Formats: sequence, structure tokens, C-alpha cells
Amino acid sequence: MRLSLEGVSLAFDVPGGEKVRALDGVTLDLAGGVTGLMGQTGSGKTTLLEVMAGMVRPDEGALAVDGADALGGAGARRLSAAVGLVFQIPERQFFETTVEREVGFGLRARGVAEAEARARSAEALALMGLSLDELGGRSPLALSGGQQRRVAIASVLALRPELLLLDEPTAGLDPRSRSACVRAIRAATDAGATVVVASHDANVLAEAADRVVALECGRVTLDGPVRETLGDAALMRDRGLEPACAARAAAALRRAGLDVEGAPLTAGELAAAIARAREAGGAS
Ligand SMILES: Nc1ncnc2c1ncn2[C@@H]1O[C@H](COP(=O)(O)OP(=O)(O)OP(=O)(O)O)[C@@H](O)[C@H]1O
Ligand SMILES: [Mg+2]
Repeated sequence: MRLSLEGVSLAFDVPGGEKVRALDGVTLDLAGGVTGLMGQTGSGKTTLLEVMAGMVRPDEGALAVDGADALGGAGARRLSAAVGLVFQIPERQFFETTVEREVGFGLRARGVAEAEARARSAEALALMGLSLDELGGRSPLALSGGQQRRVAIASVLALRPELLLLDEPTAGLDPRSRSACVRAIRAATDAGATVVVASHDANVLAEAADRVVALECGRVTLDGPVRETLGDAALMRDRGLEPACAARAAAALRRAGLDVEGAPLTAGELAAAIARAREAGGAS
């Protein structure tokens, strides 16, 4: 699915008759792959995801799905059928009495038969490292914070949305759950979904994203392939953003005199780059 935003601007009314500009002329074209959305707190990430989900209407600009206007009519219906949004604090949205009903709610609402709804719920929970057999009968509110977060993500994954939007999905998750989330994001995009992940965690995006877009005061200030953004420590720092840990370490090694080449994004890539640099050093 192709989602296009053109010149999207939005300001919120605040008491006293003033306005807060949350988005300012955002133009983006998304078609497949995983886009990581970065930016300081208050830069407009959540607002942008809400506009992409068709939940909030921009004051100005256009939103299109596969070329059709998505701010009304058939395009808006197509968008609402295709989108799945994991909210920033998704466990606040729980309203069912059991985990099974919570995860299967959207499927049942869409008329998916009971057996298939259960199978898809079990699959989505397993992707997030949880078992429907173990937790299905429990109240979602009586789970740990990390379990709640994973149940909330699973309830959106179960819908297999063509457009998957996640707002800080790994905040507060332990390393294993975080890896499960990254794998689930990659699985969704491998299955053809267009994915957008808002995150402050450069290392999650280094693993999960193909492209990185950064916002500052509602404006896009950076948009490029993950390696050319998160892998470039100087560029990221220049924009007030965190680079991938491996990129920061590579820059430090270069300053210390080791000629590490390329733009490593992960510990494994950094280790390989160090090994190559040492071999080249030893050979000369
Ligand atoms: N409902 C609202 N009413 C008024 N102002 C709002 C509302 N929602 C967001 N804003 C303002 O819009 C701007 C963008 O907020 P948004 O929540 O999109 O930022 P964010 O990048 O998601 O931040 P964070 O990293 O803290 O989640 C901020 O200045 C915020 O105060
Ligand atoms: Mg936010």
C-alpha cells in the first residue's frame, strides 16, 4: 500500500486562544518497508501517526492511499480498513475482560470466524513471545506492564494490517521482548505491509528500519536510508538525534586511530568492520 502525505500541517488549539503547531508542511511517500520516525519529545511523531491512521484530520495538505484521496470517501474507507495503530501507551486502550477477547476483538469485529480468530490471536501472541493457552483467560489489566504492552501489540498484529503504525512500541520492554517486537515488525514488512515505527531508540530502528525520517517542530529535517542516517554519527548528532550505538563506537574507534570502514549499524557489523580494519592494518 502506498501512503502519500503532501504539505500536511496541523495546529492544536490550546487554552487562551493560542495554537500549537504540531505538523508543518510534512511531505512523505511511503510504500512498503519499515520507516523509523525519530524526533525529540513534542516534535510531532504521535500526531503524524494519527494523521496517517486517518484519526486526525490535518488543517492543510493532502493524504492519499494508492493515489486516492484518503481524507474522505472511498479512500478514507480504504485507509481505515488497512490501518493498524499501536498507541503510545496501548495498554490504556484495553477494555475486554480476557486477553483472548482483547486480542481477538478486532478480528471478531471484522467478521472473522471464531476458529480463525483464535488461531490468528495465538499466532500474534506467539510472535510477541506470549502463549494464548497460558494467558488467554487472564484479565489484560492483571498482567505485568511488559506483558500488557506485548498483548496490545499482538492485538494489532493479529489484524495483519497493510499499514502498520507503531508509536514507541519498545518503550519499557526487556531485551527479549524488544527483539520479539523487532522480529514481528520485520515479519510484517516481509509479508508486504508498509510499516512506520516512531521510536526514541536508535538501536531498535537500526535493526528494524529501512529508512529513517526525523521531525523537528513538526517539520521533516532528515529522510534517508537507515545506513545513511543512523549509521552516520556526525549527521545524527548535528540534528540533535541519537545515532546507532555501533555508529557511535565506529566514530570513536576512528578518532582513536583504527580505520573502521563503512557505517556499521549493529554490534555484529561493527565487529566485522573492526576485524577487517585490523587485518588491513596487519597486512600493511
Ligand atoms: N491534544 C492536543 N492538544 C494540544 N496540543 C497537543 C495535543 N496533542 C499534541 N499536542 C502538541 O503537539 C505537539 C506534538 O505532539 P506529539 O504528541 O505529536 O509529539 P511526539 O513527537 O509524539 O512527542 P513524544 O516523543 O513525547 O511522544 C506538542 O507540542 C504537543 O504539546
Ligand atoms: Mg508521541
